[in-house]
Amino acid sequence: MHVLLTAGPTYEPIDPVRFIGNHSTGKMGYALAAEFAAQGWRVTLVSGPTNQTINHSLVTVVPVQTAQQMYEAAAAVAPRADVWVFAAAVADYRPRTVAAEKIKKRDDGSDETLTIELVKNVDIAATLGQTKRPEQFSVGFALETQDELPNAQRKLRRKGFDLVVLNSLRDAGAGFRHDTNKITLVEASGVTTFELKPKADVARDIVSAILARLQPHGA
Ligand code: CTP
Repeated sequence: MHVLLTAGPTYEPIDPVRFIGNHSTGKMGYALAAEFAAQGWRVTLVSGPTNQTINHSLVTVVPVQTAQQMYEAAAAVAPRADVWVFAAAVADYRPRTVAAEKIKKRDDGSDETLTIELVKNVDIAATLGQTKRPEQFSVGFALETQDELPNAQRKLRRKGFDLVVLNSLRDAGAGFRHDTNKITLVEASGVTTFELKPKADVARDIVSAILARLQPHGA
């Protein structure tokens, strides 16, 4: 069995030295990759820039920077993967143009503000979701600060996910920059809530939930 995983942030360049990014560390995605590999799965880990490393014969890391690169790398593997897990914190927008040279201050009084126009990035999960075959299984992540459950249920439908891993920023110790996480699994048939635990244990819970859902397909 083969899993396609996206992980980490994306960096959207502004000029040769600056970018728009986010606080994703990639820890959850790399923990999932390690857990799938421990279960004997082949893993393609399409990873934005992170400090995480993984060294396992079953794991192929495809390093990318931008959302567009992440999409292209994921799309190349998606048709061959049995399970897709979208754990990356993809930038929703990127600068419309990337300056060829470093953007300089102007020193003529006209540089008190700087406007960068942003354009929407491809939604990797939603776009690939439209190509999903019935036997393929897609898992998304949702990080919400309010109306967690309705938002997660909307994402389930809109992006063609079979399962959404919901993180609430309201839970102390969960989400970005923590070694622990507290998740709720949301699917069409209902909701399962877990305790706060180390990300490696959360990865085990997520992978065993996915494996249990695959059983009916005879996997
Ligand atoms: N995702 C993706 N490509 C994007 C944006 C998001 O593949 N361009 C994936 C994420 O990896 C995650 C899921 O979609 O699995 C949810 O992303 P999130 O940013 O939380 O939700 P959005 O649908 O973008 O909605 P909003 O930003 O309004 O919460």
